[in-house]
Amino acid sequence: MMDIEKIRKDFPMLQSDIIYLDNGATTFKPQAVIETMDSYYRQYTANAHRGDYKLALHVDQAYENVRNIVAEFINCDKDEVVFTSGATEGLNMIAQGYCRRHLHKGDVIISTYAEHASNILPYYRLKEEIGVEIVYVPFDKDGRITVDNFRSVMNEKVKFIAINCVSNVLGYINPIKEICAIAHQYGALVAVDGAQSVPHIKTDVKELDCDFLAFSAHKLCGPTGVGVLYGKKKLLEETEPLLLGGGSNARFNSCGEVLLKDVPYKFEAGTQPIGEVIAMGEAICYLMNIGMDNITNYEHQLRDHLIGSLKQLNNLNLYNPNTDTGIVTFNVKGIFAQDVASYLGNKNICLRSGNHCAKILVDFLHTPATLRCSLYFYNTMEEIDKLVKELQDITIEKCIDVIL
Ligand code: ALA
Repeated sequence: MMDIEKIRKDFPMLQSDIIYLDNGATTFKPQAVIETMDSYYRQYTANAHRGDYKLALHVDQAYENVRNIVAEFINCDKDEVVFTSGATEGLNMIAQGYCRRHLHKGDVIISTYAEHASNILPYYRLKEEIGVEIVYVPFDKDGRITVDNFRSVMNEKVKFIAINCVSNVLGYINPIKEICAIAHQYGALVAVDGAQSVPHIKTDVKELDCDFLAFSAHKLCGPTGVGVLYGKKKLLEETEPLLLGGGSNARFNSCGEVLLKDVPYKFEAGTQPIGEVIAMGEAICYLMNIGMDNITNYEHQLRDHLIGSLKQLNNLNLYNPNTDTGIVTFNVKGIFAQDVASYLGNKNICLRSGNHCAKILVDFLHTPATLRCSLYFYNTMEEIDKLVKELQDITIEKCIDVIL
């Protein structure tokens, strides 16, 4: 059982009457994470992997310990954990660092209509650069990716699959384990965008058998500007770093000969966001302390309450009543999503509106913009009731009053 009142006290941003339901965009940070970052800047600032004095060695230890924490969190080996600036960088590293090197003209990459820009635009670039073909898995009638539909697009030409684990708009959990098993039968690799799944669901990369996984710290109560790229070690060894610089090479000479460090260090050129990495470790420990299964279960309760309440209203279009997660997407009939979001914002209720960076999905939804409520473990049933009450009473006239 989770003690929500106690948990909420950990979050400075929750000590006000704000109702924050935009956790798919970013999450609030507990005091422990803020203090961890603060103490790096106040008490033990030094570069990592650069100094031989005590202070620097302390930093090295704290920084490298986060690799152990991440490895425990997603069940991989420490040297399969690459620190990045976030999911976007990780996903671009996969496309440019791995696919660009190993895929050829005519090879097929499978993706979905529900990808965030970060997991599809890098492959558009590859299409331009090397002539790969992109094929989309057909949706079922609800916008889900089924194993059968995935299987229907698999063939020998497919070399790579780029897919989210959880859609940031529809909230469905994709059958990643089954997709990996099928892809591997054909010798294809699977890269997973874990931005919306890792913060909410226990993730075991060995069980999934995915080849790459990227996620961000800021969506799991950690700082912005930092994240993780997981890759199977052999694949990381075959991946070219996007950046070269200090810290990532073992030696180089004036003839241009360069020897890069082993993975994961060859990817971490330049001074890293050290305080942020260490605070990401604290955030992950915070989640592990609560327990990922507890987080998922509680979010399911919140979601059921939200969906049940929204279904009672007759002024809404609900796009994913069978969502697997705390991502719930809808529109108020006859009122533009952004106007509803501004109205709710004026009542201190924060939701995202728009296309949520998943711009191909608007064709399936038949609307250019939606409202997205994305829950996290610190939200409450009372907050949901307040949102529902506002939605029940909303009118276009009230929205216009707020806008004008
Ligand atoms: N990718 C984040 C979202 O879906 C920003 O809102």
